[in-house]
Amino acid sequence: MHDDVYRYNEERWQALVAADALFTRPMLDLDKEKARAYLGLEKLGISDNLAGRKVLCLAGGGGQQSVAFALLGADVTVFDISSGQLERDRSAAEHYGVGIRTVQGDMRDLSALDDSSFDLVWHPYSLTFVPDCRVVFREVARVVREGGHYYLMCANPFFSGLTHDSWNGDGYTLKQPYTDEAATSYPDQEWVYDRKPDGHLVREPREYRQTLSRIVNGLVGEGFMLTFLLEVQGGRDAEPGSWEHFMMVAPPWLELACQYRPGSLEGRGD
Ligand SMILES: C[S@@+](CC[C@H](N)C(=O)[O-])C[C@H]1O[C@@H](n2cnc3c(N)ncnc32)[C@H](O)[C@@H]1O
Repeated sequence: MHDDVYRYNEERWQALVAADALFTRPMLDLDKEKARAYLGLEKLGISDNLAGRKVLCLAGGGGQQSVAFALLGADVTVFDISSGQLERDRSAAEHYGVGIRTVQGDMRDLSALDDSSFDLVWHPYSLTFVPDCRVVFREVARVVREGGHYYLMCANPFFSGLTHDSWNGDGYTLKQPYTDEAATSYPDQEWVYDRKPDGHLVREPREYRQTLSRIVNGLVGEGFMLTFLLEVQGGRDAEPGSWEHFMMVAPPWLELACQYRPGSLEGRGD
């Protein structure tokens, strides 16, 4: 039996695929060099020598990162809630003549995947689609091998639910309480998909704030050692009230990389 969170996410992402939204469009012009630059592993301190490495693209369907990893020789599994997104991975893989495995499911339950079976778990923006990130971290800790890596890109919790639309002539108004699992929503940006009058009905995102302490303590508690953190920011001199200006003032995303080192933090309270 699927819960409301599952149903909402599945339905919304199937609608986004039907609307050919950003993040559902496969990358079809990659070569090895572009794939390397696109993934940016060097910046994260993760080796891009991927031949034979087992990579899990978690909630990462759409035919972008999966094929980039496969072009670099990785053995790729894509796990995603949306069959439409996974179909895009399969057609992108066919385009390049590479093999990938696709598995449909909810990131809160990775029981379809074996213990300690991945060298790298690559998790693009999606963590805030579920209420409690700790459930996901527990599953990731189970499927990644000891010494393996976990890359996570997620909403910057301080600005969850806030966009450039909240410009008040002077700044961006923060109104929502800073609490874990607080549900939030906001209209999709106009560049996410084309709104034709007879277009597809896509419901707004429904997200849940994960505070920084829950993210960091959740990772540490599962045995992940933080190795990299970036607050993704915009450029300079942008027009106040624009998305670029908003990004400059309130970095909307975080990128984290961790290594799975269970046991290495034991005794830290002694
Ligand atoms: C913003 S997209 C990220 C993927 C994309 N490859 C990219 O370039 O960033 C978010 C993905 O999360 C998936 N998703 C949403 N809720 C999920 C859940 N509970 N479990 C697994 N996947 C989920 C969606 O189907 C979608 O493919």
